[in-house]
Amino acid sequence: MTAHATPTPMSSHRAAPLKGVAEVPGDKSISHRALIFGALTVGETRITGLLEGQDVLDTAAAMRAFGAGVERLGPGVWTVQGVGVGGFGEPEDVIDCGNSGTGVRLIMGAMATTPISAVFTGDASLRSRPMARITDPISLFGAQAWGRDGGRLPMLVRGARQPVPVRYELPVASAQVKSAVLLAGLNAPGQTVVIEKEATRDHTERMLVGFGAQVVTEVTDAGRIITLTGQPELAPQDVAVPRDPSSAAFPVCAALIVEGSEITVPGVSRNPTRNGLFTTLLEMGADISFENERAEGGEPVADLRVRFSDLKGVEVPPERAASMIDEYPILAVVAANAQGATAMRGIGELRVKESDRIAAMARGLEACGVTVEETEDSLTVHGNGPGTVPGGGLCQTHLDHRIAMAFLCLGMAAKSPVRIDDGGPIDTSFPVFEPLMAGLGARIVRVNR
Ligand code: S3P
Repeated sequence: MTAHATPTPMSSHRAAPLKGVAEVPGDKSISHRALIFGALTVGETRITGLLEGQDVLDTAAAMRAFGAGVERLGPGVWTVQGVGVGGFGEPEDVIDCGNSGTGVRLIMGAMATTPISAVFTGDASLRSRPMARITDPISLFGAQAWGRDGGRLPMLVRGARQPVPVRYELPVASAQVKSAVLLAGLNAPGQTVVIEKEATRDHTERMLVGFGAQVVTEVTDAGRIITLTGQPELAPQDVAVPRDPSSAAFPVCAALIVEGSEITVPGVSRNPTRNGLFTTLLEMGADISFENERAEGGEPVADLRVRFSDLKGVEVPPERAASMIDEYPILAVVAANAQGATAMRGIGELRVKESDRIAAMARGLEACGVTVEETEDSLTVHGNGPGTVPGGGLCQTHLDHRIAMAFLCLGMAAKSPVRIDDGGPIDTSFPVFEPLMAGLGARIVRVNR
């Protein structure tokens, strides 16, 4: 939903050692996909562990608007009555995807080869984000789109009447774009091919196979070539959503920087296309162990045990960006508590996330007394070791949940409290962030305005 209530300013205070078990919510990427793929089956899909953040609730509402039956049976337990591939009906009203780029982009792909029209909008953050990356490839299938200048929402999409399959090389490393093309390919005859130079998260490929589609991935020197055979009948599934590694990143990193901490984060996805943050933290010297490695819901998962660590700065190479694209804000906070410089390169995509995350992190860190250097596609953070960040700044979060949570984690290890202008957007991905962190010993306070 676009209506964002009045801002919720918060402050985060230096914490005693964080201790305990952090049960983070279900994976956001998999939750969106479970609802959308379920809506494209014939029959009833049952989902457990669904993330009940606002982004996913907006996708659930959108699936209802396209004709699917979506019901909540209990906490995290949902059913979806699908309408089949090509079975979407035309929504009566505007589809409001709130803050969610994943929601709007995947849904645009999913309706792009069905002969209906839909108007999409979102909150101020989503309305500022580029959509040409979706409208370009869906136009190859025969869809048309009319948006605001710069390809921004609100936007009318008219699905192709006689879709043709496409072969599309991704111009940016983006799982959203890859997924939108594959979803559009579902209702096109023949084979749709997506080529990605760098591996991005592969939940769409894994889950589509689970739902009965034919998806083949070849790993070649030119990158990954993904071939989908169109017009399958998708079969309903039981989807158990694993816990979100991008949400786990916050308690994990908070425990690494708050002296004396030791926490466990059970059941976190270890999908190799999502694990760049853990690779980086281990290089920095983090004490993290991965216990009880197993498979859950088609994803490799493990229980993480994390202890406070004396960290050193590292170079994070550009080719790692896709596997940790949502984790740079919290990595920047860790870097501020490490000894030496951490250079994060090849991260230009961060400028078109829920906010310009390079600028948002740079300004907030500076406000808290941290030295940073920023280029168009990099951020370097100079750290002076554990507990040395002065803090005391007011950080602007720009309707961005991950910026908000990152600065609240910074405050847990800073000398003076760190304030944020608005913690409201945290609900989009991690609605239980405040009580979960408080349970570990964090001191986050809602500030009266
Ligand atoms: C997502 C893909 C990523 C990520 C987003 C979720 C997905 O976006 O940042 O939070 O579920 O496919 P991009 O594809 O734009 O990199």
